[in-house]
Amino acid sequence: MTPNQAPFPGLRFRRLRRTAALRDLAQEHRLSVKDLIWPVFVTDVPGADVEVPSMPGVVRRTVDGVARAAEEAATLGIPAICLFPYTDPALKTETCEEAWNPDNLSNRAVRAIKAAVPEVAVMTDVALDPYNALGHDGIVRDGVILNDETVEALVRMALAQAEAGADILGPSDMMDGRIGAMRAGLEAAGHKDVAILSYAAKYASAFYGPFRDAVGASGALKGDKKTYQMNPGNSDEALRLVARDLSEGADMVMVKPGMPYLDVCARVKAAFGVPTYAYQVSGEYAMLKGAVLNGWVKDEVILESLMAFRRAGCDGVLTYFAPDVARILAR
Ligand code: PBG
Repeated sequence: MTPNQAPFPGLRFRRLRRTAALRDLAQEHRLSVKDLIWPVFVTDVPGADVEVPSMPGVVRRTVDGVARAAEEAATLGIPAICLFPYTDPALKTETCEEAWNPDNLSNRAVRAIKAAVPEVAVMTDVALDPYNALGHDGIVRDGVILNDETVEALVRMALAQAEAGADILGPSDMMDGRIGAMRAGLEAAGHKDVAILSYAAKYASAFYGPFRDAVGASGALKGDKKTYQMNPGNSDEALRLVARDLSEGADMVMVKPGMPYLDVCARVKAAFGVPTYAYQVSGEYAMLKGAVLNGWVKDEVILESLMAFRRAGCDGVLTYFAPDVARILAR
């Protein structure tokens, strides 16, 4: 590109920044509500349908409330909702069987959304942590997170979610081999059109703290998730994980967290050219929202933070700001 540039004054970059119209014409990337997936928390625990203290502005919703949120998404033009359950602690066990109960909270919420607004895409979370008495994404035995036993459980969980009507399954567990096993299970059960958005490059991050409060997993979790989530010091490994998940049948891939891992987003999109998503996670939300609410920065930082993902090559972003973005873009 550089060789075609005239020297000054032939080239004056400010010519195309002079008016809003010229800036619009020269703009390379755009942010639209249509690029967003809105994560929402659902609960049926009496009294738990309140604001999450570490995520101001984010509430846990009842099943009915989640259906109303999906209606709001449709009105605002947000194409998809992603469900995360805050499970009754009494239903959490070390074997996690509530995860594949056809009538568990998440599956009831999927059905409620699909009955109310079928055109809104519903994404579900495939991981055992909301149902695990030990707070881990996998089954734990003698302090070890078991891979293959967990994958079997995840397939059961995925099938129950597909049966409930989920459009997109989001395996967030980081076990090895789960995409292939889930894809085979879905095909065998006739769910050939259910999409998998793999959390392919998911890092062991402290930015998930507020989420664990939101789903009630903080207290339960023993230890950390470093034996299955990625080391923040790696990025070649992210490309290998994406390649592996694509080869096993993932339709879309995700990098998570978002802002601290934009380099990984850019590398994944450049290397594979597949539908690529970032998750602007709970800790990112809390930092930005906290600063906005304190008046330290303007809410335009929200749009700027999301534009970064578009610039890095992401096709879309999971963000708790989705409804805020819709309102900011509309004004
Ligand atoms: C767990 C899961 C996590 C998030 C999504 N699914 C947390 C974790 O891995 O501990 C984090 C999302 C966020 O922080 O917003 N399966």
